[in-house]
Amino acid sequence: MPKSARILLLNGPNLNMLGVREPTHYGSLSLAAIEQNLQDLAQKCGVNLDCFQANSEEKLIEKIHRSFQQVDFIIINPAAYTHTSVALRDALLSVAIPFVEVHLSNVHKREAFRHHSYFSDVAEGVMCGFGAKGYEYAFDFALQYLAKKAENV
Ligand code: DQA
Repeated sequence: MPKSARILLLNGPNLNMLGVREPTHYGSLSLAAIEQNLQDLAQKCGVNLDCFQANSEEKLIEKIHRSFQQVDFIIINPAAYTHTSVALRDALLSVAIPFVEVHLSNVHKREAFRHHSYFSDVAEGVMCGFGAKGYEYAFDFALQYLAKKAENV
């Protein structure tokens, strides 16, 4: 793993309410606890992790634009924007940064409007229904992806 690897964890609207928000779907961990857990893993692996959450599409898009050539991999839970945002999808495509899509809940077991994602067909992978562990699995995948990429350079 290159020491300089930079990973961005992006969380969309209402995920700042984790721990309080519909715990039967999203569990009891706060976003701060999830981010800290990933920061601990990142520190152990010697990679740089930046965590960002926003409730507005604009802030998420601008963060993605600022990541151009600055970030090697994105882990994103687009939250409700998963099902609505062509703009966020286009932002990810515009910077050409590989990403994994994460959902705490199994969206396919829920309402029909949650079954479609504007991200899944352009993501490297999708983690869905594993609760907060899904972020760890996605992080693990990001490390493997970047290590493989470094080998092939
Ligand atoms: C979510 C699933 C979305 O449908 C929902 O709008 C969210 C969270 C999840 O993590 O399970 O806000 O992305």
